[in-house]
Amino acid sequence: MKRTPALLISLLAVLAMAGCSGSLPWTSDMVETPARHADEGLLMPPAGSLSTTGEVTQSRFQAAMSLRNPLSGDPAALASGEGLFQIYCEPCHGAAGQGDGTVASYFTMRPPADLTGARVRAQSDGYIYATIRDGGGSMPPLGGSLAPHERWAVVEYLRSLQQ
Ligand code: HEC
Repeated sequence: MKRTPALLISLLAVLAMAGCSGSLPWTSDMVETPARHADEGLLMPPAGSLSTTGEVTQSRFQAAMSLRNPLSGDPAALASGEGLFQIYCEPCHGAAGQGDGTVASYFTMRPPADLTGARVRAQSDGYIYATIRDGGGSMPPLGGSLAPHERWAVVEYLRSLQQ
């Protein structure tokens, strides 16, 4: 039984090493969690769910397919969209929407998009509406601050910046 302490010490050493590398099933380092990662996009509600706000939860791609701007061509919407843009978009996207707002330089990984560039020009009104509502990538959701008709008004003004 003289060898027992040595054996025990080596066994403990092996366990400690294995513990550090996280290879044992009971050494959870909390990397694997059921939480949804930010870059995985919006989690869709289970089938048959009812909305509490009256708005259907949908991805930006679903919005692009199904939503049309009800305020398209409305001069009053264009005017209110300009004011809302200055409050809610300009700090990041800049006065002319070119992605050069006051706080834009703080976004080091994915800076605010140039809203007058080819990429956003090619996006449908519904896609931009849903981007305002739900955010996307490093852009935060603004749906809590802007009501549906205000989002459409901003889309209307954004289109005028692209002219
Ligand atoms: C807090 C800063 C911030 C504000 C405020 C903000 N955005 Fe953004 N926006 C971003 C960033 C950052 C991106 C780039 C996202 C990415 O690529 O990960 C972006 C991207 C976009 C895109 C392109 C999305 C795509 O998938 O190509 C649109 C359109 C857009 N913003 C519209 C708006 C409008 C309209 C407003 C105002 C209602 C607004 N944003 C307010 C930061 C902001």
